[in-house]
Amino acid sequence: MDFKTGLSYDDVLIIPKKGIVNSRREVDLKTNLTRKIKLNIPLVSANMDTVTETKMAIELARNGGIGIIHQFMPIEEQKAMIEEVKRSQGLIIENPLTIKKNCKLKDLKEKMEEFQKAGLIVLDENKKVLGIVTMRDITLEEDEEKTAEELMTPLKDLIYAKPGITTEEAKEILKKNKIEKLPIIREDGTLFGLITSKDIKIHENISNAALDKKGRLLVGAAVGVKNYHERIKALLEAEVDVIVIDVAHGHSVYTINALKDIKKNYDIEVIAGNIATKEAAEELISYGADALKVGIGPGAACTTRIVTGAGVPQITAIMDVYEAAKKQIPIIADGGIKNSGDIVKAIIAGANTVMMGSMFAGTDEAPGKIIHKNGRLFKMYRGSSSSSMAEARAQRQGIKVRKDISAEGVTGYVPYKGKVSELINQILGGIRSGISYSGNNNLQSVIGQQNFIRMTFSGLKESKPHDIYEL
Ligand code: XMP
Repeated sequence: MDFKTGLSYDDVLIIPKKGIVNSRREVDLKTNLTRKIKLNIPLVSANMDTVTETKMAIELARNGGIGIIHQFMPIEEQKAMIEEVKRSQGLIIENPLTIKKNCKLKDLKEKMEEFQKAGLIVLDENKKVLGIVTMRDITLEEDEEKTAEELMTPLKDLIYAKPGITTEEAKEILKKNKIEKLPIIREDGTLFGLITSKDIKIHENISNAALDKKGRLLVGAAVGVKNYHERIKALLEAEVDVIVIDVAHGHSVYTINALKDIKKNYDIEVIAGNIATKEAAEELISYGADALKVGIGPGAACTTRIVTGAGVPQITAIMDVYEAAKKQIPIIADGGIKNSGDIVKAIIAGANTVMMGSMFAGTDEAPGKIIHKNGRLFKMYRGSSSSSMAEARAQRQGIKVRKDISAEGVTGYVPYKGKVSELINQILGGIRSGISYSGNNNLQSVIGQQNFIRMTFSGLKESKPHDIYEL
């Protein structure tokens, strides 16, 4: 038999082409996540419970990428996470946290702590604004029975604005009055939104953020391939930007049925996958996928290839899917990225973005604590099909772990890496440089360029530091 050869990241190198940029900083990294959604950098954080929740999604979008919040939690929790991302940085927070006027001091403090907010808007029973309670109003207060209405600064003493205010006007008011928060109140006294000085500052500092039409951070969410209607409805209420159908075998009847059903019933961009062949790509495109997620078994915590014997090495998988997807819909290369060079290789093979789990899992913004082990720092990282995930899921649902399903993932540790924004900066430096080696000044133009050379084991050995003792 003449078998096809499957190649992965470590099997190829990009053949350099004549560089055209004067500085690597000139290299433009804009790309498409889906047909309609544009990102400023090609990075997506994986929909895994040790990778993407609110903090990661906020940081990814602030830096120009996007986070996909995982689905391994009750619907209301996932919805609340999307809402928090949407509230976090848009210039006008549309659904600021509010409290009822009879809320007692103890509950008030708890809410502020839980949501890490220094101020809450007080509403009456008709949702009209009565005032605002800030830390200043409660710090020295000891009477736990006092209510929000008794503690707040009342509306008559508040500085507020009307809908339609511009950024510059809001900034002026905040500066002139030395205040942190500016409620936006409608003519009828109901709350329209909130502008904070913190958000204005963030806006000024992060011009590269990936934003929706209302100027809020982009965020995605994963749903399962079954029983997804209630979850999708809740996510849409929270104004999620994109849905990922989270399933290991994307070229399957049940995934296709889910894709058709979701596209028919909801007006939302849908990322379908995971797949690894041209046939799978053609079929998912024909049923309305807005992007294709490629990767069967390349992930750091995956054992699919070992347990099932199935998969396609990732460079070949991307190139095959690209044959069907090129110029139609974007590709997300998911799993197996170990360094920025792999990201450039994925793009050269045909990917528009990359999804990463283990690379991000060691950062501050990933869920979970820092673990001290043998004098070194780590964070936990686990495959979504690992046995520890199955146990956690069974416990949450109050059922027994199914014995007829074998794990296709493992649990382990990844080195602690500090702030994700610093890691992203490092990675982007590598990608920009890689694109300049590929003879271009923008990411879009090198997608699918496929100027690869295959290397042998000696080539790989030569590519890594050798014959020196590393400090
Ligand atoms: P990296 O290499 O970035 O991979 O850590 C992240 C991707 O791995 C996939 N994933 C799994 N694949 N069993 C698998 O075969 C698992 O338990 C598992 N959990 C995650 C997923 O596509 C993710 O984005």
